[in-house]
Amino acid sequence: MKHITCIEDLRQLHKRRVPKAFFDYADRGSYSEDTLRANCDDLAQIKFRQRILVDVSKRDLATTILGEPASMPLVLAPVGLLGMQHGDGEILACRAAQAAGVPFTLSTMSICSIEDVAASVDKPFWFQLYVMKDRGFIKALIERAIAAKCSALVLTVDLQVLGQRHQDIKNGMTVPPEWTLSKIVDFASKPAWVAGVLRGKRRTFGNIVGHIKGTDDITELSQWTASQFDTTLTWKDVEWIRSIWPGKLVLKGILDVEDAEQAAKTGAHALVVSNHGGRQLDGAPSSIEALPEIVDAVGAQMEIMFDGGIRSGQDVMRALALGAKSCMIGRAYVYGLGAGGEAGVAKTFDIIRNELLITMGLCGVNTIAEIDDHVLAV
Ligand code: GLV
Repeated sequence: MKHITCIEDLRQLHKRRVPKAFFDYADRGSYSEDTLRANCDDLAQIKFRQRILVDVSKRDLATTILGEPASMPLVLAPVGLLGMQHGDGEILACRAAQAAGVPFTLSTMSICSIEDVAASVDKPFWFQLYVMKDRGFIKALIERAIAAKCSALVLTVDLQVLGQRHQDIKNGMTVPPEWTLSKIVDFASKPAWVAGVLRGKRRTFGNIVGHIKGTDDITELSQWTASQFDTTLTWKDVEWIRSIWPGKLVLKGILDVEDAEQAAKTGAHALVVSNHGGRQLDGAPSSIEALPEIVDAVGAQMEIMFDGGIRSGQDVMRALALGAKSCMIGRAYVYGLGAGGEAGVAKTFDIIRNELLITMGLCGVNTIAEIDDHVLAV
């Protein structure tokens, strides 16, 4: 991977190696994708102060995330279907995260199950939960996460209804894949991907198979998702989850100050400022636009994490400068996974780590704690 110098290179390789339906599922967003683009564009608008002749020989990315030491301020975001980007994708991404010294979050909509991942890695990982209509199933899922010793629960709060992703419909995105001639041609041109997925433990939703009828069958992903997700969900359900889950709780998908204030009252340890990577409310502000006022409102009461548009160490620095304590990356590591499995995710970490170290050096800072809005040009 010598010629891979940035996340975009991993993206291009992912696109070549993985069938179009799965690449697009990760890469694209909802409706006109305005919010998807704004996430990256607004980050790119933020300019740094270049500082010179500061001793930057002791740069160190170490920090804490939810009270635990981390080698850098990054978390792998929950992403569904990793096992369709690469056979056993969830296990490989988790291993790469643990080797890099940062948390991995397993999605409810993963291919490998909680137990598959727990049996294949050394340390605890985080589990992400969607609250579905069947509360008995949700309670059982939380109990499985407790039994697997997951070290945090990330509750997704911005997916009561599903934003339409045009490309998934056009691609006939289903799990397992719906066989059309163009798909067969596409798959046939990606033999390494096919071999990897065939060697993998599973080819359907590992956490759900056996519990909810139909998901081990050819089911349209968007229809299935829409039918299971609960439009009646309220803050009361967060209390209910708090009563079952004894560990650290993270609320992911907050973009509004009033919601952040409400989140602070739940006793959750952290929130993630996020618009679901531009996959939900198209026309919502970018995550970076929403971040500063949320930090002002509740940053003293809970840990503020950031998600949305991070494609470089420079972007991590921008989010930290505006008050985030750490950043989640989604697409940035999925590109790595699709491009090269565990080594590809490790490459994502290498790229972002080096970019962040160099950016810190050129801005004259040595530690993560020193990064605040003084590193930004006004
Ligand atoms: C699910 O969370 C998705 O964004 O596809």
